[in-house]
Amino acid sequence: MKKVHIKSYGCQMNVYDGQRMADVLGGEGFEETATPDDADLILLNTCHIRERAAHKVYTELGKLRELKQARKADGRETTLVVAGCVAQAEGAEIQRRQPAVDLVVGPQAYHRLPALLAEARRGRVVDTDLPPDDKFGHLPAPKPAAILARGISAFVTVQEGCDKFCAFCVVPYTRGAEFSRPVAQVVAEVERLAQAGVQDVTLLGQNVNAYHGEGQDGRVWGLARLMRRLAEVPGIARIRYTTSHPRDMDDELIAAHRDLPQLMPFLHLPVQAGSDGILAAMNRKHTADEYRRLIDKVRKARPDIALSSDFIVGFPGESDADFEETLRLIEDVRFASAYSFKYSPRPGTPAAELETQVEPALMDERLQRLQGLVERHRQEFNHAMVGRTVEVLLERAGRHPGQLAGKTPYLQAVQIETATHRIGERVMVTIERAGSNSLFGRAAGQPDLAA
Ligand code: 5AD
Ligand code: SF4
Repeated sequence: MKKVHIKSYGCQMNVYDGQRMADVLGGEGFEETATPDDADLILLNTCHIRERAAHKVYTELGKLRELKQARKADGRETTLVVAGCVAQAEGAEIQRRQPAVDLVVGPQAYHRLPALLAEARRGRVVDTDLPPDDKFGHLPAPKPAAILARGISAFVTVQEGCDKFCAFCVVPYTRGAEFSRPVAQVVAEVERLAQAGVQDVTLLGQNVNAYHGEGQDGRVWGLARLMRRLAEVPGIARIRYTTSHPRDMDDELIAAHRDLPQLMPFLHLPVQAGSDGILAAMNRKHTADEYRRLIDKVRKARPDIALSSDFIVGFPGESDADFEETLRLIEDVRFASAYSFKYSPRPGTPAAELETQVEPALMDERLQRLQGLVERHRQEFNHAMVGRTVEVLLERAGRHPGQLAGKTPYLQAVQIETATHRIGERVMVTIERAGSNSLFGRAAGQPDLAA
């Protein structure tokens, strides 16, 4: 059998895309391998969101070119493919910079991989067309064994692309306009996953709460309605979704956090900054207080919800006072976790043209302060779990023999010591200790599965 090595960078959608490409290539007689050394086909599934992520690709390609040459000296051919958002953004430029690359394929062309690989054997190929092709309708479904090997938690892309055009972001250019998969297609995929043993699905989209897919009644359904339907799929115990935009957080979705038991009490809702001036310059289309009010509403619907966010420090023009407002917002909301980044100018985005770029040293300092504050809140959130009993879905073997690892509804990692429980069980766990990245607890008995 031929072997393929897929390396995904960046976001969860790339992880999902990598799996779907593995499914496509499985149909072409490729089996996955964990190392590039024995791979006939090496596929880099790339990320363009910040300069550093995009830069990594070329470093990696340099190494792979050497590997390809070494394999050739042994009489073995290697096909080198660049997929993902760098492929979409840079296209043929990639092969100019690194001629060892055989194929450049954008995120909307994965279903055409078999034909493109055949073409690449005759010469180098680039395919970065954006839709209207129905990619999802043409991607083969994963086999039960492949699903099982990926574990009991799965990602499912339900929405792709973004129409928001935040001033710093490349996504609208690399992933194209917003597109929502039809409900029936998503339901079929989730049913298939559930039949193979998946219990926990995370619905993905660059702007997932803007989901507006064709419903099973022919009308447009929003994300809340889609999730209510997915909650009916036998075996699906937990549902999450990411990433959302504050402007698309409608009342129906907030109500789902109150009413839908399968919808986990966790919400990743990027705010990026806490100063109205910066939010406006970012084209985020909301103020800091609107975000605070939204959080109040969400917490009213689901008081125990864990909140998470993304922040950018050093957006062009960000003053000390602007930055202090971001810290104030963080103090007010108290996130259970958050990602934060130094602003990185991206080619083709409006913010990259601004002349008020912030000094790198100042960005470093701000990032450290912000991360320090977020980390304090994260630790407080985790320590507040000690003594509580929560349902944990056991997902994998733990760090040490006799341990199993899983997640709380709030997406915290938990390790339990157990001889009797198995992966796939939902167990009530009493949390005894909070480490820096994991909680530790003991099983308190089986959850009420009838509930
Ligand atoms: N520079 C830094 N961070 C960025 N993000 C998006 N674009 C940039 C950029 N140009 C961050 C945002 C987004 C997350 C996925 O990445 O915080 O929510
Ligand atoms: Fe990028 Fe998200 Fe803004 Fe869309 S909403 S442009 S994906 S940061």
